[in-house]
Amino acid sequence: MTADIMHPGLIQIIREAAKYGDVTIGLLTDKAIASHKRLPYLTYDQRRQVVENIKGVAEVVPQDDWSYVPNLRKYKPDYIIHGDDWKTGPLREIRNDVFEVMNELGGKVIEVPYTQGINSSSLDKEMKAIGTTPEVRLKSLRRLIDAKPIVRILEAHDGLCGLIIENISVQKGDRVQVFDGMWSSSLTDSTSKGKPDIEAVDLTTRLQDLNNILECTTKPIIFDGDTGGKIEHFTFTVRTLERHGISAVIIEDKVGLKKNSLFGTDAVQTQDTIEGFSQKIRAGKEVQVTKDFMIIARIESLIAGKPVADALERAYAYVEAGADGIMIHSKDKSGEDIREFCQAFRQKDAYTPIVVVPTTYDHIPEQTLQAWGANVVIYANHMLRAAYPAMVRVATTILENERAQEVRPYCMPIKEILELIPGTK
Ligand code: SPV
Ligand code: MG
Repeated sequence: MTADIMHPGLIQIIREAAKYGDVTIGLLTDKAIASHKRLPYLTYDQRRQVVENIKGVAEVVPQDDWSYVPNLRKYKPDYIIHGDDWKTGPLREIRNDVFEVMNELGGKVIEVPYTQGINSSSLDKEMKAIGTTPEVRLKSLRRLIDAKPIVRILEAHDGLCGLIIENISVQKGDRVQVFDGMWSSSLTDSTSKGKPDIEAVDLTTRLQDLNNILECTTKPIIFDGDTGGKIEHFTFTVRTLERHGISAVIIEDKVGLKKNSLFGTDAVQTQDTIEGFSQKIRAGKEVQVTKDFMIIARIESLIAGKPVADALERAYAYVEAGADGIMIHSKDKSGEDIREFCQAFRQKDAYTPIVVVPTTYDHIPEQTLQAWGANVVIYANHMLRAAYPAMVRVATTILENERAQEVRPYCMPIKEILELIPGTK
C-alpha cells in the first residue's frame, strides 16, 4: 500500500489479512509511486511510522517497484492480500502477474472486497482542496528529484496556468503522466506584463503574481532568479523565496544588463567570472534557513558561444561553491552540445542534478534527456506562447466580422468558464 491517507478501507484489509498469519506490509517507496502517479504527501518514513503502529501489522518492508512481483519473490509469502479494486483499471496487469508468481511459489492470492464509498483517490481530491504548507511544498522538489527518473516542469505565469499544471493528467498504460511542478519564468512573467525580459520586473512584483499561483496549487515551484542581481540583494531573495515555500532558485552566470538567453550571440551576453559567480552561490547558501532549498547554477557558456569545455569547468566550480544543481542552457537546435555536456559532467559527478530547457531542441524526448544524465526538464515558456496566438486569432476574427459569433469555436463555453474555478458557485 501507499498509505498516504489512512482510511477504514485499508484497516479492513489489514484486519482480513491478520486472519491468515503475520501481516507484512509492502509499503510503496516514493520511487515506486512517482513514475505512476503523484508523489504522496507524506514521506516514506512518515508513512512507515504510521503503518508500523497499526494493530495487526507485524512488519513493514519497502516496495521499490510499482509491481508486487520483486517483493513476492524476495519474501515468498504464503498469502498476498489485496483489495479487489485491482480487478479492473490500470492494476489489472499487475494482478495477473501476481497470480502467476504466487502460483509458482505455491502461495495464494486473497482478494478483499473494497470498502465502497471511500478510497485514496477521492480523499486525494479533498487533500488537494486543503492545499499545502510552504515547508511541505519546498521539500517536494528534492523528493521528486530523488524519486523520479526525470522531473517534468512547466512554465506558469498566472493562477490559471497553475491550475492546469496542478490538475492535468494523461493516462498512458498503467501510468498517469503529470507535471511535477512549475517554472516561474522571467521571460513569461515579463512578457505577460508587456515588459522586456531584462530584470525590469522587480522581485516584489513577481512575488505578487506568484502568490496567486501559490494559492491555487500544491506542486513545487522553481523560480527564475535571472542573474540573482547584486550579492547583497541575492541573499534577501533567497530568504524571501524560502519563506514563500519556493523549492529552488536558478541564477545565471551573467553580468550587466541581462538579455534573454534565446537571443544567443545576437545580444551581448557577458558572463561573470567563475570566482564572482561562485561567491554569489556561496553567499546564497550561507543565508538559507532550510536545508531543502536549492540554489541552482545556470551556465550560459553555450549561449555566449563558448565551448562545452568552458561550461564544464564552470559547472565543477559552481558545485564546489555549493550549488545544489546545474542548469545547462543552449539555443542550439540539435541538442548535441547539451548531450555532450551532460555525458561529460556525469563522468565526474554522478549525483548533482542537471536541469535542461529544451526550447530549441524540442524534438528530444524526455527519456533521451534522462539517458544523457538530466534530472529535471523545464518547458520554459510554452503556456504563454500558446495563449498569445489564441488571443490574437480571436481579436482579429472579431475585427474581421464586426461581431463575436465567429470566435465561438475558439472560445471556452460560458458554462465551462463559470465552473472552471472550484468554489465559483
Ligand atoms: C526564462 O524562461 O525566462 C528563461 C529560460 O530564463 S530562457 O527564456 O530560455 O532563457
Ligand atoms: Mg529567464
